[in-house]
Amino acid sequence: SPRSLPGSIMHHLWLMLLPFLGLVSVAPAEKGLEFPRYDGKDRVLDINDRNYRKAMNKYSMLCLLYHEPIPDSKELQKKHQMTEMVLELVAQVLEEKDIGFGMVDAKKDAKVAKKLGLDEVDSVYVFKEDRVIEFDGLLSANTMTEFLLDLLEDPVEVLDNALELKAFNRMDEEIRLVGFFKNQESEHFEAFKEAAEQFQPYIKFFATFEKTVAKQLTLKMNEVDFYEPFMEEPVTIPEKPHSEEELVAFITKHRRPTLRKLRAEDMFETWEDDIEGIHIVAFAEEEDPDGFEFLEILKEVARDNTHLPDLSIVWIDPDDFSLLIPYWEKTFKVDLFRPQIGVVNVTDADSVWMAMDDEEDLPTAQELEDWIEDVLSGKVNTEDDDEEDDDDDDDDDDDDDDDDDEDDDDDDDDDDDDDDDSDEDEDDDDDDDDDDDDE
Ligand SMILES: *[C@@H]1O[C@H](CO)[C@@H](O)[C@H](O)[C@H]1NC(C)=O
Repeated sequence: SPRSLPGSIMHHLWLMLLPFLGLVSVAPAEKGLEFPRYDGKDRVLDINDRNYRKAMNKYSMLCLLYHEPIPDSKELQKKHQMTEMVLELVAQVLEEKDIGFGMVDAKKDAKVAKKLGLDEVDSVYVFKEDRVIEFDGLLSANTMTEFLLDLLEDPVEVLDNALELKAFNRMDEEIRLVGFFKNQESEHFEAFKEAAEQFQPYIKFFATFEKTVAKQLTLKMNEVDFYEPFMEEPVTIPEKPHSEEELVAFITKHRRPTLRKLRAEDMFETWEDDIEGIHIVAFAEEEDPDGFEFLEILKEVARDNTHLPDLSIVWIDPDDFSLLIPYWEKTFKVDLFRPQIGVVNVTDADSVWMAMDDEEDLPTAQELEDWIEDVLSGKVNTEDDDEEDDDDDDDDDDDDDDDDDEDDDDDDDDDDDDDDDSDEDEDDDDDDDDDDDDE
């Protein structure tokens, strides 16, 4: 069960979600809804100095999990095997798609890791043509599969008609770009496509070659509009036409939106993109009437304050992260059946939450805006209540936080024993340099 799995600091959370893997269907009599189950065949390669180049050449995409050295402890080995099973299942499901899968051990395969530029342990790196895409999301079979399928698609989706435009307009949770170009051969479209490849699959790129569609988007020839999530109006990227570099620079600069939804496929990247050590976090269930209403207020406040460079609110729909709900409720001491907004310190997960005076009443846009202003000015912060403590926090709560650290220590201890291969690694350091050159 999720409860028995260790690790509750943020970057270890994905391990709690591994039970997704255990989708076991009750043998159905009918056909058509058979969930894949791991068939036991080894598809994930143990990547090393001798086989990595071959693997790179063999597949159109190579997906590598860069992992901590395999520990001696049985329990931690089980944890490691669970992770490997996620990759095995994804490899099985995507068997026809010409994607290679492999594991790179941070200690045993340190040289290969260095050559390939892998630096963040427990991350997945996808090699596609001359690009490396880091997957910094939830390591579940579902999320990984969706991510890889998205990567196989064209980086730019073409809008041909009003119906497709309608679908585009509904994607308001996403960062999107749309451009109008003469045709597929246009050099400006080519630059747009090159830029798209650098953000695929996290940022969606669209293009149209149709005057009627362009007119509805109010786009002139070679113009590109940038849509921030939840905003009503796009921003036109100035000084068309754009080179690939100009587009990349603009997107990089404007990438952090005022309001963003936490997504499984890049949740850790989002969490790491904190603002001076904190996140403003809003919990709201979109399918719940109160949650929906709160979200509407939140969007309004975000639209009114999108000019503030330091404002970026992370919206979490608890429905998307069911396995995390008990953890969040315990850590943040909030009731996630109700909408909540608060400040979370990402160093120690200390938090303060906006008091919603009347249980029944959601804050008005003005009240929410005032509260956000107090957060940005530092009047509302996670540190003040550490001494005053006029909430009903009792001392027991603080002890909970320490458990996290203990889990973490366990991991480190076990790693120490595993140095069988380290000598070997150093020995062939010399033949290494030639290899680097042919890359
Ligand atoms: C977050 O918590 C850490 C550790 O308790 C503290 O040193 C830091 O000042 C806090 N940051 C903010 C912005 O409150």
